[in-house]
Order: sequence, then structure tokens, then C-alpha cells
Amino acid sequence: MRLSGSLWRNIHARGVPSRYLANMAAQRPCHVTVLGEQYLTDHMTNISPTIVSKLPLKLHTQPSHPLSTLRGLIESHFPSYTHLSSLSPLVTPYQNFDLLSFPKDHPGRSVTDSYYVNKDLMLRTHTSAHEVEVFGRGETKWLLTADVYRRDEIDGSHYPVFHQTEGARIVSANSTGMKEIEEDNERLAAHLEQSSIEIEDVPHLSSTNPCQPAHDPKHTELIAKNLKLSLNSLMLHLFAGRVGATAQNPLKVRWIEATFPWTTPSFEVEVFFRGKWLEILGCGVIYQPTLDNANVSNKLGWAFGLGLERIAMVLYSIPDIRLFWSQDPRFLSQFKQGEITTFKPYSKYPACFKDVSFWLPEGQTLHENDFCDLVRDVAGDVVEDVKLIDDFTHPKTNRKSLCYRINYRSMDRSLSNDEANSLNAQVVSYLRDRFRVEIR
Ligand code: PHE
Repeated sequence: MRLSGSLWRNIHARGVPSRYLANMAAQRPCHVTVLGEQYLTDHMTNISPTIVSKLPLKLHTQPSHPLSTLRGLIESHFPSYTHLSSLSPLVTPYQNFDLLSFPKDHPGRSVTDSYYVNKDLMLRTHTSAHEVEVFGRGETKWLLTADVYRRDEIDGSHYPVFHQTEGARIVSANSTGMKEIEEDNERLAAHLEQSSIEIEDVPHLSSTNPCQPAHDPKHTELIAKNLKLSLNSLMLHLFAGRVGATAQNPLKVRWIEATFPWTTPSFEVEVFFRGKWLEILGCGVIYQPTLDNANVSNKLGWAFGLGLERIAMVLYSIPDIRLFWSQDPRFLSQFKQGEITTFKPYSKYPACFKDVSFWLPEGQTLHENDFCDLVRDVAGDVVEDVKLIDDFTHPKTNRKSLCYRINYRSMDRSLSNDEANSLNAQVVSYLRDRFRVEIR
């Protein structure tokens, strides 16, 4: 989870819409079944049936799936690392946030941004949630690929479930560890020197991206350099072949300063691909208290986290993030494990939009993510995007009126106007039941 950039976009502090939760509580059964286990619900519960249905799917381990091939490609670049891909998505807020030094009031903790089974259990919002656990098992070089969950708006590049690969390396904080890093840096630098890559860099350390008090700046420099060299060479491995990088037309990679609660210095990496800078990953030198939490205080190192869908969308030319979830043989049969091929769109069926316009009860607000989850519960992947097209507060009564435009389009078949109408009628009825709105 990031504090800058657009991957983690809903960053504004927001209050919990108490009326919403009260309404949900009134209707909610006191148990919810997740991955075959029953859990008690409470005032924090907001996990929806659509989300629960995604948990067993693990697209990143389905043979031939583009996300599985991309995982394999990343793993093949780090052959000496331990490769993990089957950790449960259920974590405690303590693992997801506290062990990584997130402040108590971080907006990512709110029920509008994250999915909770109850106050003590949530769906991981990032693979970093497992850092302490994996380091604690004694792993020093590892990759972990997994599904992660964030409440979000609906459009062609956002989906409440996506996949990340976390990578990390730690070494002993002494001359032996530093020698290992120095030798590796020489090897990587020699390899990059012979490659068609152009790197726009930022200093390893600066006043805005400082060394940690617990670290010797010389050690941090070496670790940050190892991080940069390792990731620049991963970028070459993933992209150079695809852009046909040459000495005249090298692969362009740029480094930007960033902020994450559990790394400093921290960075983001972008790659120039088909005319655009693409955000690829966040990374940094691991904050020492994180390693202390894992009982490996005598080590230091780096970690990165990279979003798979974004990269797969450009490598395979997949135009809509919903396609990753398609069971349509016209999608799935196009791919072979280990091969990156250009997706051939089979058809774009007509879209059908419907507007939903309503008054909220006095004093009540409705978060866009709550509206989007409601629409997904009704229409699943038949909803292509949702846009707020009008937001009005009556000057006298202070009541709020909202109008959303919902674009219905199936990726697999033609949707009739009657079907869209009946989905929309269901959305309206849920809205009335859950939020007591008055349809305009
Ligand atoms: N977890 C961060 C994200 O989801 C990425 C990250 C991983 C950053 C590891 C620093 C270190 O955006």
C-alpha cells in the first residue's frame, strides 16, 4: 500500500458512514462463511458475497493464465529465492498495518477502503502484510505472489481484487553481509552496462528520503544500490524483449522518491512503454522495527511490491481488468503457460447505461465505494464502469442528492435492454433497503 502515486488512490481521510453500518448491521446475519470457515460478524463487517466468491480462485496459480505466466516470469528472474504463492488472504489488521508501522489513523484502515470479516480479521490489502511472518520463518531471499483486496471505484483498470508479487532480500548487518551485497552489485552492474537500458535515477539517500537512525549510511547506500540494480534488471527481463529495446532505442526506467511506513529510503519505479510512463512498483530499504518484529534485528535489506494486472494488461494488450476473471474459453484458450502473446479481442458487445438518481436521508452520506460494492453484488462483472454525474445538496434542507451513471456491458455476450433494466431495478431496490434512499 502506498502513500503516494495513484495505485492507492482513495487516500483521503473519511469518516465511517455510521448510518450505512447501522443499516448493514440490522440486515446482517451474525456469521459469515469465508473459505469454508464461519466467522462472527460485527460493526466492522463489510465483506460482500461478490468478494467472498473470489477468494478461492487464485488466478496467479491457474496454469496458462496470464497472471500465472507473469508470476513465473518474475520467479525465473530470481531463481535462488524462495517462491511462495499460497498464503491465506485472511490476515489481522495487526499484520496488515501495525507490524508495518502504519499510523493508527491511516486512511487505509477505514471500512470504506478495506474489507473486514470483523474487527479482528480482514483481507490483506497488500502482500507486504506477510513480510514479518516470512522473515520470521528465517527466509532471507523470497518472492510471494498473492491476491490482494481494496475497495475501489469501478472502471476498466480498477477491480477490488488484484494480484501483487512481493520480493525481499536481507543480509547480515556486518562485513560479511556487505561483502555479499558488494559482489552482487558488481555482477549486476556489469550485466546492466551491456544492456539497452536508460535509467533516470534519484540519489540513494537525500534529506527527503533519509537513512534510518539505526543504519550506517554506507550500508544503506549499498542496500539501496542492490535494490535498484536488482529491479532494473527485472525490468529488462520483463519489458526489453517486448519493446525491442536497442542501443538507439533503449528501455527507459525512472526512479522516483516515495514514502511507505515500513521502508526508508523509499522509491517508485516507472517504465516507459508504448508512449506512456507506467507505474510498476513501490520499494525501499526495510524499516528496522519491521525486522525487529520478525526477530531478525541483526539483518538489513530491501523489499518491493509490484502489481501484476497493470503489467499483464500492457504485456498482453488486455484492455479491461475484468477479463482476467473471465471463464470464457475465447479468453482462456488464447494463452499458454510461459508465453506472452497479444490478446485478440473476440468482440466488444454493446454497452447499455442507466442513471440512478436519488435523495439520501437527511444528514446521511454515501461513500462511492459502498455504492460500487452494491452494484457489483447485483451485476458482478457485467458492470463496466460507474460514474458520479451529479452531486447536489439542497441549500434549505441540506439533503443530498446523487446521480450515478452505471454502464452495463458483458464481455462474453450481448446484453438485452430488458436485462439491463432488471439489473438496474435490483440496484434501486438494494439502495432503498440498505440506505433508505428516495429515488428521484
Ligand atoms: N505494498 C506496497 C503497495 O502495495 C508496495 C511496497 C512493497 C512498497 C514493499 C515498499 C516495500 O503499493
